[in-house]
Amino acid sequence: MKFFLSASVLFAGIVATTARKTCGNLPKNIHLFNDTYLPDPFRFLNGQRVKNLKNWQCREAEVSALFQRYELGTKPPRPSHLSASYASNNLTITAGENGNYINWTVSITYPNTTSTTPYPAVIALDALSIPVPDGAAVIIFNNDEIGQQNNQSSRGVGLFYDLYGHDASASSMMAWAWAISRIIDALEMTPAAHINPHKLAVTGCSRDGKGAMVAGAFDDRIALTIAQESGSGGDACWRISDAELRDGLVTQTASEIVTENVWFSVEFDRFANDTDLLPFDHHQLAGLIAPRGLYATDNTDFVWLGLASPYGCMEAGRLIYESLGVKDHLGFSQDGNHSHCTFPPDQEGELAAFFDKFLFDDESADTDVLRKGGNYTFNLRDWVNWSVPRLY
Ligand SMILES: *[C@@H]1O[C@H](CO)[C@@H](O)[C@H](O)[C@H]1NC(C)=O
Ligand SMILES: *[C@@H]1O[C@H](CO)[C@@H](O)[C@H](O)[C@H]1NC(C)=O
Ligand SMILES: *[C@@H]1O[C@H](CO)[C@@H](O)[C@H](O)[C@H]1NC(C)=O
Ligand SMILES: *[C@@H]1O[C@H](CO)[C@@H](O)[C@H](O)[C@H]1NC(C)=O
Ligand SMILES: *[C@@H]1O[C@H](CO)[C@@H](O)[C@H](O)[C@H]1NC(C)=O
Ligand SMILES: *[C@@H]1O[C@H](CO)[C@@H](O)[C@H](O)[C@H]1NC(C)=O
Ligand SMILES: *[C@@H]1O[C@H](CO)[C@@H](O)[C@H](O)[C@H]1NC(C)=O
Ligand SMILES: *[C@@H]1O[C@H](CO)[C@@H](O)[C@H](O)[C@H]1NC(C)=O
Ligand SMILES: *[C@@H]1O[C@H](CO)[C@@H](O)[C@H](O)[C@H]1NC(C)=O
Repeated sequence: MKFFLSASVLFAGIVATTARKTCGNLPKNIHLFNDTYLPDPFRFLNGQRVKNLKNWQCREAEVSALFQRYELGTKPPRPSHLSASYASNNLTITAGENGNYINWTVSITYPNTTSTTPYPAVIALDALSIPVPDGAAVIIFNNDEIGQQNNQSSRGVGLFYDLYGHDASASSMMAWAWAISRIIDALEMTPAAHINPHKLAVTGCSRDGKGAMVAGAFDDRIALTIAQESGSGGDACWRISDAELRDGLVTQTASEIVTENVWFSVEFDRFANDTDLLPFDHHQLAGLIAPRGLYATDNTDFVWLGLASPYGCMEAGRLIYESLGVKDHLGFSQDGNHSHCTFPPDQEGELAAFFDKFLFDDESADTDVLRKGGNYTFNLRDWVNWSVPRLY
């Protein structure tokens, strides 16, 4: 798969640097309009449509800026001071800006195998709740100390806000994404930690699964994102969740989620009862991860997560991957019959295939997964009124 390699390099290099400069900034005033469909990922705000890979890189920069303006708050760049120290399986990161310093520690568990170092690694938000293959290290990231997530009074609480101010626009999820980027910086700076920064996965379940998806969307050094049972605010789409609630399903929507916690920015409140006004939806959060790996699971026993919403949202997200020629890099798998955040045996093969492909260079691993669970119908054409350009 030569294309994928060159496309990844293009995305990693150009989107991060040149494209964002040459594509122009987001306009100050944006005309928002009600779009009852999932918004067209391939249409710029100015109405022009994406025709090639170069356009797409600019469009991705635009979508990233839109998510930051309206839903998640701003992710600050690497701070002017960043240092790391490693001792006894602990990596301590110090970040500083304007004479303010914070530090935090992540613990690393190494594989028992004597496989070659540096090791691929899985960064887990809060705790690990998926099986990890032999040969990969596990890094536990205590996201709550970076951005608290107890309830609405957690706004602006945590180490991130000690550094950037308690009224920083970043939501708790964006604060975690920033910290994960700094962990990756630290791994790059610290060969003694024996972790390969080009072979990293990020994972979390439920609220932390939403957080894993945001981290993957905002750092293109993350090779694989595993969002376990993330539901509404993660792999579900706001518009489809609203429709499921209207149909009588007791499911989480934007209107509820903004009252529950600080996962989203204050700015997002204005869309909470009016998600049709958002100039994007979460199929495009998946799109920000493309062409890199994304494996999302959901659980039909917990309708709060959504049924048609995560399935339909990721089916739409796969159209973005399809435009890049890598539809099988986004896997979605929905089942039931297990408790929330318990990883079921029937998904182990799928998960292993994603690890094989994205952490262990096995291009032949079959990651073509789109698995619907539960008793509902979903018709993509009710939600998608745009066509898919061929960009590869
Ligand atoms: C969008 O639709 C909502 C609900 O139907 C309505 O209240 C709102 O005024 C509309 N907004 C615009 C800008 O048309
Ligand atoms: C899709 O629907 C939206 C309104 O929800 C409309 O603005 C847009 O033009 C439609 N796109 C196409 C290709 O028909
Ligand atoms: C590693 O970090 C943990 C958690 O911060 C701490 O409890 C432990 O003492 C540290 N171990 C060493 C050897 O520094
Ligand atoms: C980390 O931060 C704590 C609390 O501010 C401070 O006491 C400690 O000295 C710092 N550690 C390092 C290594 O900078
Ligand atoms: C590695 O060895 C430790 C101690 O023997 C054991 O507890 C742990 O389960 C092993 N881990 C793996 C991944 O085999
Ligand atoms: C928010 O959570 C904190 C810490 O768990 C708790 O002390 C506080 O009472 C909670 N506030 C509300 C409004 O529930
Ligand atoms: C959404 O609408 C409900 C019912 O009218 C209202 O109570 C709530 O405050 C609104 N939420 C936001 C964030 O505006
Ligand atoms: C739960 O298990 C039953 C019995 O094996 C099966 O028929 C059903 O499809 C399962 N449900 C889901 C959502 O996987
Ligand atoms: C699935 O849902 C339909 C419509 O609500 C219902 O008629 C049918 O009995 C359900 N099937 C199962 C297996 O629950």
